[in-house]
Amino acid sequence: MANENVSPAVTTQLHGHVLVITVNNPPVNALSAAVRQGLFAAIEQADAEPDAKAVLIVSEGKTFIAGADIREFGKPPVLPSLPEVCNRIEACNKPVVAALQGAALGGGLEVALGAHYRLALPAVKVGLPEVDLGLMPGAGGTQRAPRLMGVKAAAEFMLSGKPIGAQAALQAGLIDRIVDTANAAASDGNRPALDAGLAYANELLGTQATGAPVRRVRDIAIPDPEAALVDLTALAADTAKKSSGLFSPLKIIEAVRASVELPFDDGMALERRLFLTCIDSPQRAGLIHAFFAEREVSKVPEARAAAPRAVDSLAIIGGGTMGAGIAVAALDAGLPVVMVERDADSIARGVANVTKVYDGLVAKGRMTEAQKAATLARFKSSTDYADLANTDLVIEAVFEDLAVKKAVFQQLDKVCKPGAVLATNTSYLDIDAIAASTSRPQDVIGLHFFSPANIMKLLEIVVPAQVSADVVVTAFELAKRMKKVPVRAGVCDGFIGNRILATYKQAADYMMEDGASPYQIDAAVRGFGYPMGPCQVTDLAGGDIGWATRKRRAATRDPKARYVEIADRICERGWFGQKTGRGFYLYPQGARTGQPDPEVLAIVDAERAKKGITPRSFTPEEIMRRYMAAMVNEGAKVLADGIALRPLDIDVTFLYGYGFPRFRGGPMKHADTVGLANILADIRAFAQEDPLFWQPAPLLEKLVAEGKDFASLNQRG
Ligand code: 3HC
Ligand code: NAI
Repeated sequence: MANENVSPAVTTQLHGHVLVITVNNPPVNALSAAVRQGLFAAIEQADAEPDAKAVLIVSEGKTFIAGADIREFGKPPVLPSLPEVCNRIEACNKPVVAALQGAALGGGLEVALGAHYRLALPAVKVGLPEVDLGLMPGAGGTQRAPRLMGVKAAAEFMLSGKPIGAQAALQAGLIDRIVDTANAAASDGNRPALDAGLAYANELLGTQATGAPVRRVRDIAIPDPEAALVDLTALAADTAKKSSGLFSPLKIIEAVRASVELPFDDGMALERRLFLTCIDSPQRAGLIHAFFAEREVSKVPEARAAAPRAVDSLAIIGGGTMGAGIAVAALDAGLPVVMVERDADSIARGVANVTKVYDGLVAKGRMTEAQKAATLARFKSSTDYADLANTDLVIEAVFEDLAVKKAVFQQLDKVCKPGAVLATNTSYLDIDAIAASTSRPQDVIGLHFFSPANIMKLLEIVVPAQVSADVVVTAFELAKRMKKVPVRAGVCDGFIGNRILATYKQAADYMMEDGASPYQIDAAVRGFGYPMGPCQVTDLAGGDIGWATRKRRAATRDPKARYVEIADRICERGWFGQKTGRGFYLYPQGARTGQPDPEVLAIVDAERAKKGITPRSFTPEEIMRRYMAAMVNEGAKVLADGIALRPLDIDVTFLYGYGFPRFRGGPMKHADTVGLANILADIRAFAQEDPLFWQPAPLLEKLVAEGKDFASLNQRG
């Protein structure tokens, strides 16, 4: 029988007595309508075809099936639904084998669980990661996985969302066998899953005179149902505590409970109902927005115009907080690193800062002494810029002072080879001015890491006017190697993140002076989904950092602008936060969680009295409306100024650099969810009190006038 197209994305072909169903829907074989229709039709064909005694489901490409087609969510449904497809596979009268390679995730694993036998290549990853998208498995996963894995293990598997490897999947009972690597290699090389699947199907056919048995997961009894219900009750209590406002985790437990309490088909029906409530939740929209946004950020104009320069060696100037963190991130990425400091004492401190990180990993058992030694063998230190003559990429992380930075870049200009990329980690300074201090501005770029640089994922790639496209592309490549999430930003005071941060912190300061305590503000921000409030963050980072910036800006501050001095009063007392034992909060005996401080409240009261302000009360909701309105308004200005390419770049910046709750998708996505007209109405209302601060962004006004949202500006790069 020839290869037959049963849909644009699914073909069938008879190999002896085995009907092979091949899914081919690049790039990841997502289960879009054409795949679902094709799979359904192919199983109908298998049942009808007398020569077919068994069925094999395989996929083209690297991935078995990555799950439901996420782009279809929120659109009108197209039949057959995925649960119908999985049920149809399971109902097939001939034994169905699924051969898994690459990733079998979400609906991809559910298709495999509909099959009667499952085998996998050794490098396979299987998972039910729906929870990461604000969802739950919706095509039988919550009913079939518990029958194979046990109820508690299955629920935990779905709640974690983390994929597991072949061995773990075998032990859990999710797959029946792992293909012998030697056999896989001995096949024709490009289709080991097909060969192994055919071998398995033929083996099954050979064992029984009457043909191989069909085995349906739905027919398996739930092991130890009473104990399972006790486990689920405990898990639900624990999940309610830990999942902080997330919608889908408790729905997962509810559906798994149905696998114990209800007949299979009723459990499936309940799963479907719960799945649809997840689909309708704004959290699903926020999390899926985040999924696509973090992939879109790398699609920048330069990526189409140039290829990256080779980077085989890296140097860092400055071994302080940031220099050391960046050195660790680069060493962890496998690069050789040279650190340069200004004198012997400073370089000794820089080296110690790096070594301390690895000592900590060894102490926690996350690295062996031998691995530490191998990593540090790639780490060199120096006080001589001449040692940078052959380095491909240099990152400067010296004091935040334009004159000091310019002097460093002039030195680099003298010693570095032509074509070396020269980057600065400045937080705020004018990178065009730094570039202009060299004879090669085309090679100068901003690489703004976040503290701690070996942990925080965000990397703002700051693009000055004269930098060449291949340097920008090189920076994106480096980010990928260092497992960072890169966002392209333009040059301005604070780039995307710190510029917007400065504005909404001002809004928070105003509320503090008008009547909200620092503790009420932090609680409202945490209630919104952030891990910490702004005053807690200041205490963690060190209040002195912001104080220095405020002093630097004092001379250029608009004298008409409202300025709140509470934080300055706190810093003047030497209360810089956790490192000094007190800041906005008290940290007795080095505690990491702060306690409210009556003396701070007294400072706040005194500042209000000085300005003649009668404090008024703020609800958490009003605090967040003002906080978000300030953030979104400045975000719109950042967009209009071309500092961020698209709203999604701002979203990713805040998700990965500032702890913005992922289930809301980012500030600009959140603004769309709330409605831009509502945000603008708030800004106009707040402007009655302070028209200078609350100036509506013209872009926001334009979008509202045209009835558009920020999403309309997120065209694909
Ligand atoms: N639907 C639609 N598009 C998808 C997709 C999906 N499920 N998974 C990935 N893609 C797209 C990506 O957006 C990307 O598109 P682009 O090239 O236009 O940017 C492309 O496929 C390649 O993806 P990656 O860049 O992520 O490729 P990787 O090779 O790094 O990773 C992967 C592959 C591990 C499969 C990863 O893409 C992934 O984790 N995908 C999502 C898996 C998932 O969450 N599945 C569950 C879906 S929900 C579900 O199944 C519900 C069901 O229970 C009813
Ligand atoms: P830091 O004060 O901890 O370290 C600066 C280091 O630079 C010191 O070790 C100093 O000896 C060294 N140095 C100064 N002049 C030098 C020179 N001419 N040659 C070689 N070394 C020199 O400062 P930190 O916090 O590491 O900041 C460095 C840069 O990173 C600044 O531009 C800062 O704005 C930026 N940054 C800081 C973040 C933070 O949270 N600390 C976050 C993101 C960026």
